[in-house]
Amino acid sequence: MTLRKAIFPIAGLGTRFLPATKSVPKEMLPVVDKPLIQYAVEEARAAGIEEFIFVVRPGNRTIEAHFSRSPDLEDNLRRRGRKAELESIISSCIDPAKARYVPQDRPLGLGHAISCAQEYAGDEPVAILLPDDLIRAPAPCLVQMAEAFGRRGGNMIAVMDVPKVEAPRYGMVEPGHRDGRLIEIKGLVEKPTPEAAPSTLAIVGRYIVQPGVFRHLMRRQPGAGGEIQLTDALASMIGEAPCHGFRFEGRRFDCGAKIGFLEANLAYALSDSMIGEEARRLVRRYASGEAVSSAGGR
Ligand code: UTP
Repeated sequence: MTLRKAIFPIAGLGTRFLPATKSVPKEMLPVVDKPLIQYAVEEARAAGIEEFIFVVRPGNRTIEAHFSRSPDLEDNLRRRGRKAELESIISSCIDPAKARYVPQDRPLGLGHAISCAQEYAGDEPVAILLPDDLIRAPAPCLVQMAEAFGRRGGNMIAVMDVPKVEAPRYGMVEPGHRDGRLIEIKGLVEKPTPEAAPSTLAIVGRYIVQPGVFRHLMRRQPGAGGEIQLTDALASMIGEAPCHGFRFEGRRFDCGAKIGFLEANLAYALSDSMIGEEARRLVRRYASGEAVSSAGGR
């Protein structure tokens, strides 16, 4: 039950980040110096993923350009002796034979985006990573999940506890038997009211799914928010395949929202070996109010 392929759905409109995301996908926004999509690809690589399927906005080549070799830039860096930068941009590239860029013609939701990848996902389990959920962990989240998946199989979804008032922002889990970090899933509901939420366990953007999910996605009608929901397709598979939540070890940053994105930048900057010290000084100045009063509005 090895995992070889991953889907990265990155065709959303990112309206919460307009105007930044008008022509640049939100997954290209950087946390310190690396775009969100690159963190996700590195996590997938660590989990042994060999084939990368990106579901992109039609006509948008930004992601493909990011993972392709760039001879002029490489020559320039080489001439200037910028070894570290040169190594970093070369090692982040993906062999073009191992990368697929599939357009999602219209932004009809996450479930629809996943169904666009069916042709390349084939008849084997596949990982799904939502790059705007950035997860910082001692062992990358997908590595933790792949290990558990190797033992249990079925469908597996990363979960974490959230305050019940936040349930309307998430897919929520109806939990069954618990076994360490694994939680049997008896039901799933997308964006319920706090009163209707079956628990405080929320879905986070990491999944390992069986190929049968595509059949269920094809049958779906638009659900919450008028979109085709991956959660609904996974819910309809319960009973057909084992379904587990995986309570990962680590911290998740919601980089699809401004505050979560800001927090991620703070957390990564404060522990960065190059800029950490200066970042900590800066944060202290702002926290004391000293810098705020002189910075003015925007
Ligand atoms: P979100 O709902 O967070 O993204 O989708 P969004 O719609 O782009 O953002 P806002 O709410 O307008 O700010 C979660 C993930 O699913 C992808 C997004 O790119 C993101 O990775 N997605 C969403 C698609 O690929 N296609 C879609 O139609 C919708």
